[in-house]
Amino acid sequence: MESINNYIKQHKQRFLDELIALLKIPSVSADTAFKKEVLLTADFVMEQLKKAGCDTVELCETPGYPIIYGEKIIDKNLPTVLVYGHYDVQPPDPIELWDSPPFEPVIKKTELHPEGAIFARGACDDKGQMYMHIKAFEYMTSSSNLPCNVKFMIEGEEEVGSESLSWFVPRNIEKLKNDVILISDTGMIANDIPSITTGLRGLSYVEAEITGPNRDLHSGLYGGAVANPINILNKMIASLHDENNFITIPGFYDNVEELSKEERAEMAKAPFNLKEYKDAIKIDDVYGEKEYTTNERNSIRPTLDVNGIWGGYTGEGAKTVIASKAYAKISMRLVPNQDWKRITNLFVKHFENIAPNAVAVKVTPHHGGQGYVTPINTTAYEAASKAYETTFGKTPIPQRSGGSIPIVALFEEYLKSKTILMGFGLNSDAIHSPNEHFGIWNYLKGIETIPYFYKYFTELH
Ligand code: BES
Ligand code: MN
Ligand code: MN
Repeated sequence: MESINNYIKQHKQRFLDELIALLKIPSVSADTAFKKEVLLTADFVMEQLKKAGCDTVELCETPGYPIIYGEKIIDKNLPTVLVYGHYDVQPPDPIELWDSPPFEPVIKKTELHPEGAIFARGACDDKGQMYMHIKAFEYMTSSSNLPCNVKFMIEGEEEVGSESLSWFVPRNIEKLKNDVILISDTGMIANDIPSITTGLRGLSYVEAEITGPNRDLHSGLYGGAVANPINILNKMIASLHDENNFITIPGFYDNVEELSKEERAEMAKAPFNLKEYKDAIKIDDVYGEKEYTTNERNSIRPTLDVNGIWGGYTGEGAKTVIASKAYAKISMRLVPNQDWKRITNLFVKHFENIAPNAVAVKVTPHHGGQGYVTPINTTAYEAASKAYETTFGKTPIPQRSGGSIPIVALFEEYLKSKTILMGFGLNSDAIHSPNEHFGIWNYLKGIETIPYFYKYFTELH
């Protein structure tokens, strides 16, 4: 398939220009102020799928943001690849920490991206990676190199929990029928160390509200005699980890799969440099469950993290006050076999249990989902592996990731098919952070590698 390289060379500038146009639309699903823009992005994706060669493209209405569905069926007897991606992005906050505006893409060179990277919210997660698939598909259709059937399903609520997709999938099982699901929404180890993501963690996300007195009080008149909800909330949160950094919620670890010594030794073979890891985020030491390595802590082990905490007076100067309420948003990353609904219930019960009588606790579950592990003894994995071998010249390393794409477990439940995670981002691409970027090399490498997956998957099928 030599001509994929020629095709990329010829169309590189347009591939970049189109991605930049897509990145300019602020499709922030979490903030209703961007509703118009999210809808415009859905239209953009629909147009591009049509142009790239889909036979039919539909904007599927849901209770939330629309799902864009497109397909090209060339022969019912050939296998079908279902591509999933998302066109929504995380909020850009805190905007003041961006070196350039989040929705005005700029190309800059970095140490890890000497050929330049596009800086914009969504560049890597997931607009850039989703768009690679549309361009790879364009190449295959326009050069008569499409070896099988393709279905695209691009949603606009991934960053807020994929609620509408959870509604859509069970209602469209026949339409979404496929032989493998292909997703580029994860990362790889390094540009010279290709890897295939073989696991995703599950998630339980909750919000806690602690109420003390019914109104804010003078901290001199009442201080010391009533419970301060902020003090109490912090004490409760601090108690959720023990001195070895294990989570103290009773039953939390019940179903956690313990890897064998051999499996852990196999994992430890993946290239990893602790000093570089620390230097990249400017920390003096790592921190986590005792007896586990950094790579284990962020992939095969569960977590509990406060994502935000607030209450009381945070304005300028000092105000002497005992706030009536304190809040925290807490996420738990889960590993295979931990049921996210059960964990959510355990959290709620435990948090209510440990609160003193002097305060009231309310825990509101947000979203969640199951983790996922991709088997590596499948034709789909083999096809992906061969595709990387072809374009990177190296066999990719299977690696479980710490991130979550909860919808993947749901795909397996309803569509009965496995997912292959071919991610081309780097951990340093700052997804969800200020200055998110995606290497131009990575973008084009993705476009180059994807058609080989189609080819090998069809051949091996
Ligand atoms: N693309 C990410 C997930 C990801 C990134 C997995 C890198 C592996 C490596 C996705 O968009 C995401 O951010 N997921 C959320 C969960 C979702 C329910 C909001 C996450 O992991 O926090
Ligand atoms: Mn994503
Ligand atoms: Mn994300």
